[in-house]
Amino acid sequence: MKNFKEKIISFLGRDCRIETVPLIDSTNRAVKDLAEQGAPEGLVFFAEEQTAGRGRMGRSFFSPPGSGLYFSVLLRPKDTDPLKITVAAGVAVARAVQETLGLELQIKWVNDLYFKNKKVCGILAEGLVSEEGLEYCVLGVGVNVFAPRAGFGELDVIAGALLEEPRDGLRAKLAAAILNHFSALYENLEDPAILQEYRGRSYLQGKTVTALRGNERFRAMVVGIDDTAALLLKRENGQVVALSSGEVQLEDYR
Ligand code: BTN
Repeated sequence: MKNFKEKIISFLGRDCRIETVPLIDSTNRAVKDLAEQGAPEGLVFFAEEQTAGRGRMGRSFFSPPGSGLYFSVLLRPKDTDPLKITVAAGVAVARAVQETLGLELQIKWVNDLYFKNKKVCGILAEGLVSEEGLEYCVLGVGVNVFAPRAGFGELDVIAGALLEEPRDGLRAKLAAAILNHFSALYENLEDPAILQEYRGRSYLQGKTVTALRGNERFRAMVVGIDDTAALLLKRENGQVVALSSGEVQLEDYR
């Protein structure tokens, strides 16, 4: 592949391969294919630009060149709920941004990171589950590091960037910090401190939302996050329900 670059880094406690390409449809798609071909845990795949970046619920992730970080990691966890991987990745990104730029991010359950009320990062963990359990999980992370030159277009109401202007070397520094933090958290995904930090960064706490669960749609107030990382919602009839999949929209659809 033209312009394809390869490097070995220490990640997840071993030597791992990082691949970088200028352009791809989706790094999650590419890593999924490599996983099917038997690639080992710890493979990391970066792209400068994606033409079909994937988001949750069949949505796309806007991935223009020169402004973002788009990468996927291949994980082969023994016996883990992919939700725990999403939670750890969210905490890793938030810690890395704080360490690198001194900015405080909030996490919108389940997989989005917010800065100044705008989405600056999306996380997509896609797994293959067989009879033996979770065969592999592809963890995809997209961060809007700098505002794209042409703006976010129609996504402008929702999407934002960490910084308005590009800074040399920053994306590489941030990528290294995310991988380091994730590597440390992945050693013990059961550590209650991870969920504690995730809760502490909750963007939705106390807010009124519309929850989407299967075909059901209801208004509720966010009252917490339980020990399985499910979102706790108080419905208008006072009943508290736990949402472990699906999604919630804020009143203004953020
Ligand atoms: C979301 O917003 O719902 C999740 C977005 C995840 C985007 C990242 S970018 C790198 C990786 N490759 C993809 O196709 N998607 C993820």
